[in-house]
Amino acid sequence: MKFPGKPRSRTAAFLPLFLLSLKILQPGHSHLYGNRYAGDKVIRLIPNTEEEANALKKIYHQLKVDLWQPSSISYVSKGAVTDVHILQNGSQALLAFLQEANIQYKILIEDLQNTLEKASSLRTQRNRRYLSGHNYEVYHSLEEIQNWMHHLNKTHSGLIHMFSIGRSYEGRPLFVLKLGRRSRTYKRAVWIDCGIHAREWIGPAFCQWFVKEALLTYRSDPTMRKMLNHLYFYVMPVFNVDGYHFSWTNDRFWRKTRSRNSMFHCRGVDANRNWKVKWCDEGASMHPCDDTYCGPFPESEPEVKAVATFLRKHRKHIRAYLSFHAYAQMLLYPYSYKYATIPNFSCVESAAYKAVNALQSVYGVQYRYGPASTTLYVSSGSSMDWAYKNGIPYTFAFELRDTGHFGFLLPEMLIKPTCTETMLAVKNITMHLLKKCP
Ligand SMILES: *[C@@H]1O[C@H](CO)[C@@H](O)[C@H](O)[C@H]1NC(C)=O
Ligand SMILES: *[C@@H]1O[C@H](CO)[C@@H](O)[C@H](O)[C@H]1NC(C)=O
Ligand SMILES: *[C@@H]1O[C@H](CO)[C@@H](O)[C@H](O)[C@H]1NC(C)=O
Ligand SMILES: *[C@@H]1O[C@H](CO)[C@@H](O)[C@H](O)[C@H]1NC(C)=O
Ligand SMILES: [Zn+2]
Repeated sequence: MKFPGKPRSRTAAFLPLFLLSLKILQPGHSHLYGNRYAGDKVIRLIPNTEEEANALKKIYHQLKVDLWQPSSISYVSKGAVTDVHILQNGSQALLAFLQEANIQYKILIEDLQNTLEKASSLRTQRNRRYLSGHNYEVYHSLEEIQNWMHHLNKTHSGLIHMFSIGRSYEGRPLFVLKLGRRSRTYKRAVWIDCGIHAREWIGPAFCQWFVKEALLTYRSDPTMRKMLNHLYFYVMPVFNVDGYHFSWTNDRFWRKTRSRNSMFHCRGVDANRNWKVKWCDEGASMHPCDDTYCGPFPESEPEVKAVATFLRKHRKHIRAYLSFHAYAQMLLYPYSYKYATIPNFSCVESAAYKAVNALQSVYGVQYRYGPASTTLYVSSGSSMDWAYKNGIPYTFAFELRDTGHFGFLLPEMLIKPTCTETMLAVKNITMHLLKKCP
């Protein structure tokens, strides 16, 4: 599929010169993303006091940094783990400041460009499980994912139906797979979306894994058969298609959508702050240049509007909403926007408890779980809260692996273990839903 202003063609124009200089500097090695992360560091710091936290907030605005965790500088506080990606020449200044202020820090990634390239060169011959020629243990570009969806729609028409729920800001179709055995009788459904935030690549990888597992194990695994016989699954492998594409072609650490703003140069809205539930309140920013920008109005982003419209239309039969993010290793449920306990808390809580236990049973990986507000931080306008408020009783957000060692650059060799364990959690939640709890 061709899109206007496709960055690849621009790169192509510079290619000869680019290759020439590389040949001289580093024979046989080409840099990803134009080497833009060379020398960048990712540093973890944990302020010990509120004064330290405030000092950090002050210097934050003077440096070019990209916050990995938490998602907004306003969340930085005493005792809170803060991972920052410092752009090239900011490292010296920040490190000097941290030493001066005696704030403890640890360098998570010494050279981001190096780490990024190492992660991508690890695509070697590993034990891979193909289905219909698709490798589930590597990250895939948007084009590859969409081709894969089209292919499944043709080859597995008994269990899969692919459709579009609208178009993105840049005009890309928003594809969803409806998974499940067709039935004339009423069936409840589960909505699953991945990749609301572009740089969280493990999300779309999980959505693809989920579909693969469903197709491969439908006949052999009684749990999966039950799931697909009794429920429909709406799977949206890439929610933020424009942002995801951009994270492949231009900026690996892009988070937001790609919509333009009439007043500012900065592009994009945080698609997980753009929902009409306490919109643009605590934990969201009104500034278009911030990573948690809530947008000019609720559902301003065509991607959010399309999913919200679909969920509104089908809310009677959609019983669960699952959204996949990274990274933190958490299983979160409402509320995000306030400190309060949801009605029927015990049902949701026990589903989460069992799910994280099932997940841990595979490799011992521990997840924290609880209401998003107390487990992660307060954030308004999230998809999970919105889905809950609109009558979907089971709504969860997963923050997948890891806890910061690789962060957004989770290596491909961890796709399989991450997806395998997550699969158990999702199956567990789904089976819970088929039981008595409302
Ligand atoms: C930091 O790097 C940018 C881009 O390479 C450059 O424009 C800027 O002048 C540099 N700043 C300092 C303080 O060296
Ligand atoms: C999926 O396949 C069905 C026919 O089996 C077709 O009607 C539909 O248009 C296909 N979906 C997409 C998005 O191409
Ligand atoms: C869900 O996980 C619990 C452990 O947390 C386990 O006892 C139960 O059998 C699991 N249920 C399913 C259907 O996987
Ligand atoms: C809570 O559970 C009751 C039944 O036990 C049900 O009628 C009600 O709709 C549930 N409320 C929510 C918000 O899920
Ligand atoms: Zn996210």
